[in-house]
Parts: sequence; C-alpha cells; structure tokens
Amino acid sequence: MSNTDWVVLKFGGTSVASFERWKTIASVLRERIEEGLTPLVVCSALSGISNLLERLLADAEAGRDVSDVLEEIFQKHRALAKDMGLDADELVGERFEELSRIAEGVRLVEEATPRLRARAMSMGELMSTRLGAAWLSTQGLTAAWQDAREMLVAEPAVPTGRQETRYLSTTCSDDPDPELEARLAGLGADVIVTQGFIARDAAGDTVLLGRGGSDTSAAYFAARVTANRLEIWTDVPGMFTSNPRRIPSARLLRHLDYAEAEQLALMGAKVLHPRCIAPVAARGIPLHIKCTPAPDMNGTVISRDAPAGVPLVKAVSSREGIPVISIDVDRALENVGHLARVARCFEQRGLSIDMVSASETNITISLDPAANVLGEDEIEALMSDLNEVTRARLLGPGAAVSLVGSNIRAILHELGPILERFEDHRVYMVSQAADDLNFTFVVAEEAADPLVSDVHALLFGSNVIDASFGPPWEQLFEATPEEPKVLESWWQDRREALLAEAERGTPCYVYRPSAIDAALEELRLLPIERLLYSVKANPNPDVLRHLHDRGVSFQCGSVGELERLSELFEDAGERIVFTGHGTVADDYRRAFELGAQVVVGSETPLRAWPEVFEGREIFLRVDPGRSASGRHFVLTAGPQSKLGIAPDGVKAAHERARAAGAKVVGLHAHPGSGLRSTSTWRAIARLLIGLAKDLPDVRVLDLGGGLGVPERVGHGDVNLTMLAAGLASIREEAPNLELWMEPGRFLVARAGVLLAHVRDVADKEGKTFITIDAGMNALVRPAIYGAWHETVNLTRYDEPRRIIADVVGPLSDSADVLANDRLHPETKPGDVFLIANAGAYGRAMASEYNSMPLPREVIDAEE
Ligand code: LLP
Repeated sequence: MSNTDWVVLKFGGTSVASFERWKTIASVLRERIEEGLTPLVVCSALSGISNLLERLLADAEAGRDVSDVLEEIFQKHRALAKDMGLDADELVGERFEELSRIAEGVRLVEEATPRLRARAMSMGELMSTRLGAAWLSTQGLTAAWQDAREMLVAEPAVPTGRQETRYLSTTCSDDPDPELEARLAGLGADVIVTQGFIARDAAGDTVLLGRGGSDTSAAYFAARVTANRLEIWTDVPGMFTSNPRRIPSARLLRHLDYAEAEQLALMGAKVLHPRCIAPVAARGIPLHIKCTPAPDMNGTVISRDAPAGVPLVKAVSSREGIPVISIDVDRALENVGHLARVARCFEQRGLSIDMVSASETNITISLDPAANVLGEDEIEALMSDLNEVTRARLLGPGAAVSLVGSNIRAILHELGPILERFEDHRVYMVSQAADDLNFTFVVAEEAADPLVSDVHALLFGSNVIDASFGPPWEQLFEATPEEPKVLESWWQDRREALLAEAERGTPCYVYRPSAIDAALEELRLLPIERLLYSVKANPNPDVLRHLHDRGVSFQCGSVGELERLSELFEDAGERIVFTGHGTVADDYRRAFELGAQVVVGSETPLRAWPEVFEGREIFLRVDPGRSASGRHFVLTAGPQSKLGIAPDGVKAAHERARAAGAKVVGLHAHPGSGLRSTSTWRAIARLLIGLAKDLPDVRVLDLGGGLGVPERVGHGDVNLTMLAAGLASIREEAPNLELWMEPGRFLVARAGVLLAHVRDVADKEGKTFITIDAGMNALVRPAIYGAWHETVNLTRYDEPRRIIADVVGPLSDSADVLANDRLHPETKPGDVFLIANAGAYGRAMASEYNSMPLPREVIDAEE
C-alpha cells in the first residue's frame, strides 16, 4: 500500500466542455495538491458528445450518411483544443479515425452490436481526457493520462445476462486494489487523469457502466485506491429538496447520509447516479458534490457523519413515464402460484419491478424506466404475456411522487396536510419503502408537477429551521422563477399608496374593503341561510359597518363585542349569535335583552341560573372534536376540547334546558380554525343531524367558522365548490333544517396588511436579521401559533431577492419573530415592510406589551 492520500474528483460533461471550466479544474487541483492530496481526475465526455455518438450510431445503423455528425463531434474537440492552445488532430486524431471507421462499418452492415456500440461510445471520454491531461501538463502540473480500461475490470456477466447489459451497463468490483494504488503512486505525477463510464471485461473488450456511469466509475476508483474523499463536480452544487429547475425555492441539502443520498438519486435527483453511492458508503469515504461554475460554494456533503436518526423529510421528488400495470386476481386463479406466474412474465422479459401493491383482488405493479429499457414494444409484449396468465391493464403513464428522508415511518402522522393535496388526484398506488426511506404515491403523470410544487411548499416553504437545509436555489443562482414570488393580492396594485401611508406612521394595519367583498362573493356559492361574521377576527368599526351594509350577521364571543355592535347598529340584536363560554348570568341577560340568539356551551349555566333561560330559545354548542363513539374525527387548529358539550351529553343538556323552561332550537359546532380541507363541515353537519333527531324543536344547524385562506405560494384555494356540494347533500338529508356558518378569517384575512419600517439589518454568525418596528406586540400569530405570513420589502419590491433573513420585531423577547429564513432583496433601515394576510387576528390580538402603542388602522377604499 502506498502512502498517497488520494482524492478522486469527477468532472461531468459541462464541467469539461469549455476552456473556462478547465481553468477552474486546474485551480481546484492545485488547491487539493496544497492540501497534501493526490488528485485522481475522472472525466466525462464533453457535454453533448455522448448524445452525438448515439446519433452517429443510429444514423449509421439506418444506413444514413454520417459525415455531418462526425464533423460536429470533431469540431467540438477542435474548438476546445484551440482555446487551450493545443492541436486536436495531433492529440486525438487517431480517435477521430477510429470513430470514422466504426461508423462506416456500422453503416455498411446496418447494425451496431453492443460490443461495437461500447467501443464507439467510449471515444467521448477517451478524447476529453486526452485534451484535458495535455492542457494540465502545460500548466505546470504533471498530469498522467491513464486508460480506465486498464484499471477497472467488469465483473463476470451472469450467464443469462443480455448482451446489452454485458457491454453497455456493466458493474465492476469496488474492492480496494493496493496494486493499482501502488502503480498509480509510482507514476510520480501531480495528477492522474482518466475516463469515467468505461471499463474492460475479462476478454479485454471495452464495456460501459451505463448512462451516468462516470459517477459510478469515480466511486469505484475512490474505493479501489481508498481515497480520502470523492468529489463529484457538476453544474449544480448538490442535492436539493426538489428539482430546482422546476421549483426555484428548492433548498440545498447540506448533509445527507449515504442511504438518503442514494434514495434521492433513485427517486429522480439527477445530480448523482444512485450506483455511485454503495462503493463509497461501504468504506465510509465522504462524497462532496461541488459546483464547477461556483467552485467556492459549499455543496452537499454525503458522509457517515450526517446527523442521523432525526425523522425528517428531506425532499420531494418525482419520476415520470412510469408504466403502471393493474392485474386482476381472478378468484378462480387465486392460488399460491398466481403471483409467481405474474412475476415470471417480468422475469422472462428481463424487466425489474419497482413497486407492488397487492390486495385480494388486484395487484398493481410499476416499472422503473431508469432500471429497464422500456420501449412500447417491450411493454406490449409484457402485457400480452401477462394476459395469458391473468387479466392485466396498462394504466396510463404514471408519475411517482416521493417523499424522501430517514425514518419516514416516524412522521407518518404528520403527513395529514400533505395527504390533503392528493384529494383531487387519482392515486394509482401508494408505497412505503421497507427501508423506511421513502413514501411514494404513483399518480397520473399530469398531476405530478402541481403536486410536487404543493407538497414542497408545504414542507419546505415555511420556517423550516434545520442545519440540514441550505439556501434556496433561486438565491444561489438567481434563477428567474416562473412561479410568482408571493401570492397575488390587491396590495400589489396599491404599493405607492401603501408606501405613502407608511410614512404617516408605522406599525399600521391597512384594510381593503373591496377584498372583503371579493371574499363575500366567494361565500355566496354556499347554500346557507345565514352568513355570520365572527367579530373576534377583526372588530374594526369600519370593517363591521362594511359587512353590516352587505347584510351579514355577526357571531360574538363576548359581551364586549355585543356592546360594540349595539353601539354601531340599531338592529344589532336580531343579527347576532352570542356564543358564551365561561359567561356570567348578566352577560346572558344582556344578550337576550338585545335580542341575540344565545348559544349555550355547557350544562352549567342552565343548572346554575335556570331563570335566565326561562321562556328563551337557545342553541346548544356541541364539541365536534369527539364523535358519539369518542373517536376524534375533526382536525382542529387549536385546543378545542374545552368548548362545547360532548355529543353524548347533548341529551342531558337538552333535558336541563327543558327543565329551565327554554327551547333548544339550534345546534352549533365550530370545527377549528384555518382549515383548508372542506370535508370537515359535512362531517360536523352529519353529527349534528344525528343529534337533532332527538331534539324536536331544532331548526338551525350552525356549522361554525374555520375556513382557511391560502397563505403562501403553492397553497391552493379552499375548495368552496366542494364545500357547497357537501352542504347541498346535507340539505337533502335534512331539508327542514337551516344551515348557518360563521367565518371570521375567510372574510377579512386577505383584506388586511401590516406595514412596518425596517429599523436594523444585522448579520450575526452567518444569519441575517431584519428588525422591523412591528413585533409580536403588533402581530402575535407567528409567535404563538407559528403562523406563516408573507413578508415583503415593499420599498424594493422589484429588486431581486438575494438574502435570506429572519424578520424580527423590536422587543427583547425571544418569541419576537415574525418570519424565519425568508428570501428578501438587500434591505436597508428605513425600508417599508409589508406583512400580508394580516386582516384577521392581527390588530385584534395586538397588545401593549413592552408599553408599545397599539398599531394604527386605516381603510384603503380608494379605487
Ligand atoms: N365561531 C366560533 C365559535 C369561533 O370560536 C371562531 C373562532 C369562529 C367562529 C371564527 O373562526 P374563523 O373562521 O376565523 O377561523 N386566533 C386564532 C384563531 C382563533 C379562532 C377562534 N375561534 C388565529 O389567529 O389563527
């Protein structure tokens, strides 16, 4: 064994295709040598060359003239050589000739055997490395060019192996090879330069490692010389939380363990070939992904030291073009051998199965196009084989959308909101990998993109603070994202006016009445008798007047709200539902006096002061968090259980009301807040209908509030059409009952923004903090609920967003944070910030904490 400390560096096609990139390569190599390492450089063919070689073979096989393609291949090498000050014909002229001969041969016999194909394809790497090594030698580095085929030997092919596999997609041993190491060390060169993708077999023939095989070659080399490190240099700095070209907000993954990285590669991350992981993983050789266009950037590090064991979804990916086959299990065929017969059909065609889901009557199987050579003919032949043993159908091309990470099983319960995203899409199959590294849904192909973007926003768009996640792609590369940066909203057209308003003093809430109207308009879809506005969301008098003028009723939770309304409106009482909780007798009296509809939320008041309720019509509030069977079936956004009567207590409460001389004319339930799936209300209505069966006087079901709004890009609208349909079906079930709803947030959240001024921008230990003059005193939702509000630098709205910062308030309190890790333009003190979606529970929950004045409120009614 030599004492050489090796580092294997693999440079991909785009990294070796231009002179500029080679300059980067030279300086990287110098750095490594300075570190005391000996670089073993593994190169791909110049970008585009492998495709041209394939075209060359296809054209030649078809008997077409190939001189243009050949010329293009030569030309690319000549151009690079010229930039390097080298003569291509001198260095690789022999290869040009060899390639011409092969092409001519193929053209004559109109056939390219796998053996010949491998020879032709190997030319790309042989040429790129010749040029590279020669140029490095002109740069004061002794570079020894080595033929990979003398270092990597293919493992013996399985006897049944197809010729294609044997020549075009082979595997090699990754056992350490001290002899090889000694031989390379003995060359005494500064750098060794060799080819990726190619090897030889026992007979001495050239064989290939399959597409993307350069990564695998590099990993083999790293393992065989027991390198200190493997570096894969490419045009992106690592693996991301999703495909960054589709999702510009995808974040760089800083650390991964081998299993995670392999899984990501298998699930569609193109940056690494999955096969390159095992050889380095077996020996614990760290793998660094590096970016040739930005060599100083810290990319993804894959190693044993990655923080392990924490269940965390690291990425959401998709693979398209996946054939999905549905196989009926006929009762008559249902016997032990059935599955084996089905499996044999795949085996005979040399096709490997990717995922299987089986039930008593059906088996659904997907094939991985990356692991199989899948043409239409192959599929057709397979289908006909299958149909001989059973009934099989090809379900259109599918896409596999996968959540990838360690220990996924441990977080299945958190996937609820993610599963909601699948509501509108047909799911062909679901699979949770036994190694617990991925959770995959196979859906129709066209559903994949929107789904990935939705799920990504949900998982990584928020305040995910974890050392594993680096900056988003769009920040690293200023990609021009096609998706909007922020949700579309009225304030984007009112920027000037809002900037002017901010100068009159911040923090300041601004409300836009036309946005309230837009929300009202949406709710008109719902087949309900009465729309009540939940006053607590925003009790601003102008907001209340606006809604009152439009015929909306009100839901109050306190006597203070009752009084506020009765001061504003003469007819307030008849429009109010008063929902008491922990309410004293006098409050109930006041509500009845004003003519409000009172909702009683527990038996206690009925028992304590029956006289208050005598002769009154009341509603009972039911706790929908538990169904009659005690099962939790409603997702709530907060502690819900303290409110309302459990379903099995409703009868007793009704008795109690009767005894007091009150009539129960309605049932009420509030499901929680910020709900964006609409199945809840229907479930609640069903529960209430069931309970109402024993209560003869009930004529109203008040289904509460809770409708959510989209909070950030990627959030879909709450599906009101679906809710309307659900409620319509409830109407049919219970035609004599009125339906009421009492949303707060939905009506006002989007209509309000909070304006603030930037006080300070500071960098601390690599983190940037933007301090604004609106803290948790002005908007407490992020601090207490972890709520997500978009933060926008209104002053520099059009400038590129380059920094990632936490947006914090001015208070000395660790909870005084409005947003974490948000992308912003370079920000200066004095800039105006806008916090979006702040019309509900914003000013309403503001406080004078730290003796801060309450934020101002302004109506922006101007057209
Ligand atoms: N009805 C009742 C009986 C309620 O308790 C509520 C709100 C609503 C209607 C209106 O719910 P909405 O449609 O606004 O979700 N402070 C929290 C929200 C708490 C909601 C409490 N109840 C937040 O800032 O998210």
